Amino acid sequence: MEDRIEISLSTCKKLKPEPDRLGFGKAFTDHMFIMDYAPETGWHRPRIIPYQPIQLDPAAKVFHYGQTVFEGMKAYRTREDRILLFRPGKHFQRLNRSNERLCIPPVREELALEALKQLLLIDRDWIPAEEGTSLYIRPFIIATEPLLGVAPSNHYQFIIILSQVGAYYAEGIRPVKIMVEADYVRAVNGGVGSAKTAGNYAAGLKAQETASGLGYAQVLWLDGVQRRNIEEVGSMNVFFKLNGKLVTPYLSGSILDGTIRDSILHLLKHWEIPVEERIVTIDELVVAFRHGGFEEAFGTGTAAVISPIGELYWQGERLLIGKGDTGELTRRLYDTLTGIQYGRLADPFGWTVEV
Ligand code: COI
Repeated sequence: MEDRIEISLSTCKKLKPEPDRLGFGKAFTDHMFIMDYAPETGWHRPRIIPYQPIQLDPAAKVFHYGQTVFEGMKAYRTREDRILLFRPGKHFQRLNRSNERLCIPPVREELALEALKQLLLIDRDWIPAEEGTSLYIRPFIIATEPLLGVAPSNHYQFIIILSQVGAYYAEGIRPVKIMVEADYVRAVNGGVGSAKTAGNYAAGLKAQETASGLGYAQVLWLDGVQRRNIEEVGSMNVFFKLNGKLVTPYLSGSILDGTIRDSILHLLKHWEIPVEERIVTIDELVVAFRHGGFEEAFGTGTAAVISPIGELYWQGERLLIGKGDTGELTRRLYDTLTGIQYGRLADPFGWTVEV
């Protein structure tokens, strides 16, 4: 694999959106990274080019069989004008785990990080400084071979695009309402639920459409076999505080190993707050609610960071969590994590990487 990254700069700069109108994933920067894969050469021709449409053959395998993976991470601008990435190594490792599951050749993680740093330096003025904003980074790989036989592609493209973002949910740090999904499932053990691949998100759209029609931000998935065990929200892993005890679903094989989930587990350990990674059932949540012990719930994810959950809807019943406000522990975790990400707090774990 060749390592020198060719650079061709854009001659016209796009207008940047107003910081209060960012939303999520709408405004893309001036440049992108792209690299090709062919069996004879491996990954080759890493390059940074002006942000532009890509041309693909209509028979490219990604369109037909969904052979594709992606990642999501963020770059932050600190008050001192430093640029920080949050655990990029962990994200590229997960990209390669997703690659392995989808039969996509691995990318060299050091090269991917170097390419990302160079891209960020070129589009540095796109990294917003306002509280709650950041530059969302979307690395992804697509199968480009034009061939309709069902077999792994021989050709791929690895691309990184960047987008200025505000809060993922319109609620920001205010609690979101989530509907527990009773009919559809997202993934089953042995499937691709633990890989970051497009099909998992497409599989969730139908249920999400119904939930948003009823005023819920997202759906909370149950396992595909018992239909009782809590899995994840699709864009977030979940944590619950029940009768004073913190619990989160264990990595069963059908949920995503989230970087923020892992960071929360480390922070809790550091604070000596016990947390159980285990099977958590919907029945347990209902019982805790009925006995007044459903104290806090929050989702964790790169896009959403930490999002308090104020209500769960399950089979006609509204489970109101805590007092409807952001819980004390949720707030402490949010403040600490974002403090580290934005370089306001010390980073005892070495999670941030300066660009
Ligand atoms: C992320 O948190 O980066 C995700 O991948 C969620 C995304 C699908 C919006």
